[in-house]
Amino acid sequence: MIRILHLSDPHFGAADPAVASLFLSRAPGYSPDLTVLSGDLTMRARRSELVDARYFVERLPRPRLVVPGNHDIPAFNQPLHRLLLPFERYRQTFGREIEPVHTAPGLHVVSVNSNKPYGPYLDWSKGRITCEELKRADQRLSGAPGCLKVLVLHHPLVAPEGHRRDLVQPLDKLLEMTARRRVDLILCGHFHCSHLDAVGPAGAWRSVVSQAATVCSTRLQGEPQGFHMIRMTMERIEIERHVYRDGDFATETTFAFTRGESGWLSADAVTRREITRAS
Ligand SMILES: [Fe+2]
Ligand SMILES: [Fe+2]
Repeated sequence: MIRILHLSDPHFGAADPAVASLFLSRAPGYSPDLTVLSGDLTMRARRSELVDARYFVERLPRPRLVVPGNHDIPAFNQPLHRLLLPFERYRQTFGREIEPVHTAPGLHVVSVNSNKPYGPYLDWSKGRITCEELKRADQRLSGAPGCLKVLVLHHPLVAPEGHRRDLVQPLDKLLEMTARRRVDLILCGHFHCSHLDAVGPAGAWRSVVSQAATVCSTRLQGEPQGFHMIRMTMERIEIERHVYRDGDFATETTFAFTRGESGWLSADAVTRREITRAS
């Protein structure tokens, strides 16, 4: 069994230090094989925020895989940084690689950068993946027979009920790729809203999506802070949704998915009801 601790969007600069400390104290108890942080470590990539984010990341259980989010690019008060060197401060803090890969026995994890400093659209916080980035992820996800395949990015592929639907683009090409490569699990964040689902092109392979809430920021979107604890084999994926309430993190729900010929399907009534409401 592979155990992945999935957290997202700590947003140092707008983080609750008590919740951050509580999470750091709880995290080692899950003994994860991998800790994944799916972006938005800071608010505006300010130096003080990056210092706090680094302190937090260095105390997460190892091994860990961290990707940037749209908030980890300097804002418009730093136009030259944003336009010319958008990831330089992130790279100086967390290393040059913004699309890290992790391989371990039975596990192959690839990431793709969905954050862009500008583009031919008004809202530059939206997620976009270039043809080159998609091709690179495609190549990295090839092979790895007998391994569980995981893709990490910041922006969502599915919108929970009642939420805005600015999903990563080009979504159809991304899903065609994850179906062709038979990706088992996709980890993302950005909406600050916990959501679990199985997605794929019509009639093709479906991957489980773990979209995590913010782990410790005060930028709440109608639900408290939380994280996901994932346990997966080639036949079954179980995801515990942990939620911060009354001064502690508690397990709220456990979702289960089973693997079939066309990919992953929800395995219990609780999950089916959730997906029905979200569709
Ligand atoms: Fe965020
Ligand atoms: Fe974001």
